[in-house]
Amino acid sequence: MRTLVLGGTAFLGHAVATEAVRRGHEVVCAARGTSGAVPDGATLVKVDRDAPDGLAALAEQKFDAVVDVATMSYPWVANALHSLGAGAGHWTFISSINVYADAETPGQTEAAALHKPVMSGADADERIENPYLYAGIKVASETAVRETLGERALIVRSGLIVGPGDVSDRFGYWPARISRGGRVLVPATPDQPVQLIDVRDMAAWIVNAGEQGLSGTYNGVGPTRKLGDVLAEIVRIVGPPGTQLVSAPTDRLTAAGVNEWRGEQSLPVWVPAEDYGFLAHDHSKAAGAGLTYRPFEKTVTDVLDYERELGLARPRQAGLTPAEEGAVLEKLEGNQS
Ligand SMILES: NC(=O)c1ccc[n+]([C@@H]2O[C@H](COP(=O)([O-])OP(=O)(O)OC[C@H]3O[C@@H](n4cnc5c(N)ncnc54)[C@H](OP(=O)(O)O)[C@@H]3O)[C@@H](O)[C@H]2O)c1
Repeated sequence: MRTLVLGGTAFLGHAVATEAVRRGHEVVCAARGTSGAVPDGATLVKVDRDAPDGLAALAEQKFDAVVDVATMSYPWVANALHSLGAGAGHWTFISSINVYADAETPGQTEAAALHKPVMSGADADERIENPYLYAGIKVASETAVRETLGERALIVRSGLIVGPGDVSDRFGYWPARISRGGRVLVPATPDQPVQLIDVRDMAAWIVNAGEQGLSGTYNGVGPTRKLGDVLAEIVRIVGPPGTQLVSAPTDRLTAAGVNEWRGEQSLPVWVPAEDYGFLAHDHSKAAGAGLTYRPFEKTVTDVLDYERELGLARPRQAGLTPAEEGAVLEKLEGNQS
């Protein structure tokens, strides 16, 4: 089987290519090659999707399965469909749960209302200025893939992907921080929903889909869990004796300058109550179509190994530094605002 990954040099695309090589596919990855190397056994075809006719190096090639991880560009998706769609046996497009217009209501299925489509590309600055651009581009891209491939199209609306290779520093903060033990600052929102999907589980399902011709639109998410349970379990798995979770009221965290979800000086994966639906989509359709979930313990220990490879003391894109965490704990316990 010939599989093309449009991507393959970074996190999810790399995991898909790794899994396809493991199954004996002939795997081609098309990317610039600047984000990293492709897995052993895969071939890199250098392309720049920003260039006019950027996929010319793949012209006339046919693939049994194509997986496009295009993060945020409608023209990339449209050009790929135009160049390669007719010769593809199956096409997976990686979308996002960001496509849903309602971020608040838990339990939404794939039938929930979507943001308006946006048929443009976007650079990083535009993305920051318009938080719905990412969603709109994904919605427009999904439609283009369905219109071109019909029953040969799989749309995966991915939730938060975790696991080795994740350089976003979000989920990895928690195993890394908790492995250091002591008093660990956490938001006092134990009932906040959380959905995580291990990148290797997602990759295996995507490769299965290409092999079996699975079509349709699916929430690519894990079962919904509670943040308090997830953090307590990470303590059980990697916390040294005496590790203590110190819950801080969210208004106190905000007043202390701690951010939600991602970025510097944040407690990653913590979201405001009006975004609880964002991390609690219905996962039953994907689970019914073969998406399986490895034990959480395995994900946590592998993420910690990866975090150690990167260096636990490195500057992070998400989380609190030990000094920031210590200062917030001191403020909270000194009862200062
Ligand atoms: N991570 C999450 O939690 C999460 C959640 C929801 C949805 N998603 C979706 O999941 C996908 C993640 O994909 P990923 O982890 O494999 O990769 P990624 O970090 O989004 O990188 C995308 C790939 O695109 C390639 N690329 C970037 N610029 C390019 C260009 N000009 N020409 C050709 N290729 C280019 C990169 O390779 P080179 O730099 O080597 O060219 C890389 O292989 C995205 O669609 C994202 O929207 C992710």
